[in-house]
Amino acid sequence: MTYITRRTMLVGLSSLIFPWLCRAESAPLKIGLIGAGQVGSTLAKFWVDAGYHVMLSARSLDEAQQQAAQLGSLASAGTPEQASAFGDVVVLAVPYRAIPALGKQLSGVVKGKILLDPSNFYPSRDGAIAATAAHDGAGITTQHYFPGARVVRGFNSIDMSVLRTEAHRHPPLLAVPIAGDDPSAVGIVANLVRAAGFDPVITGDLASSIAFQPGGPGFEVKTDATRLKAVLARK
Ligand SMILES: NC(=O)c1ccc[n+]([C@@H]2O[C@H](COP(=O)([O-])OP(=O)(O)OC[C@H]3O[C@@H](n4cnc5c(N)ncnc54)[C@H](OP(=O)(O)O)[C@@H]3O)[C@@H](O)[C@H]2O)c1
Repeated sequence: MTYITRRTMLVGLSSLIFPWLCRAESAPLKIGLIGAGQVGSTLAKFWVDAGYHVMLSARSLDEAQQQAAQLGSLASAGTPEQASAFGDVVVLAVPYRAIPALGKQLSGVVKGKILLDPSNFYPSRDGAIAATAAHDGAGITTQHYFPGARVVRGFNSIDMSVLRTEAHRHPPLLAVPIAGDDPSAVGIVANLVRAAGFDPVITGDLASSIAFQPGGPGFEVKTDATRLKAVLARK
């Protein structure tokens, strides 16, 4: 066996056990989170537990600092601009009404980066943008506000209280649907889903994420990958 073959096997094996090693020999993937509430803090904990570096942010630096302090040395806190600059993957864990302003504020920083969007829209909370997201799809709407970002939808379809309980459960794992137009970005997010303790189900391009947004057949479906695919196929 040549050196290259052994090394390739080792990297492949390691990436199964420690997904962040998929970036192989360079620095491990870093994750910046915009929002340090239920979603931001839950996802940050999953990934810190899996060995990733995260930076939490919110308009209130205090909230981000408190959450980061609970997560230990792999977590830090900053402003949304700092978290966006820090992350190879940036997560939009905010009420949907914040998306247009965050687009103006951060789209220059996240251009070319993976932008994971777990946010949902509710007319009573989010106002007029909720109607646009319901009609065009939240994925397409978010992409509009973040041109050039590699938007992936995911982690929006299941309540965080369920994810916290079900992460790394006895197989079959809980399925988490994801979708995006950039296959390599979707692949990296799929690894983040696995690292968090779930089974990724890729529904297709960004437009396909409408199937698991509020009102879609895959929204709030808490099951394994086989059953989730069956639900989505019946739509
Ligand atoms: N909770 C769930 O189980 C769940 C599950 C799936 C999807 N979602 C969706 O995920 C999103 C986040 O939900 P959540 O439950 O985490 O909400 P949350 O607990 O209310 O937290 C929202 C976070 O966003 C920050 N934020 C709000 N506007 C901001 C802005 N303009 N710039 C930067 N940060 C901002 C808030 O802090 P500041 O106000 O200090 O900025 C807070 O840290 C929502 O769209 C929700 O519908 C929630």
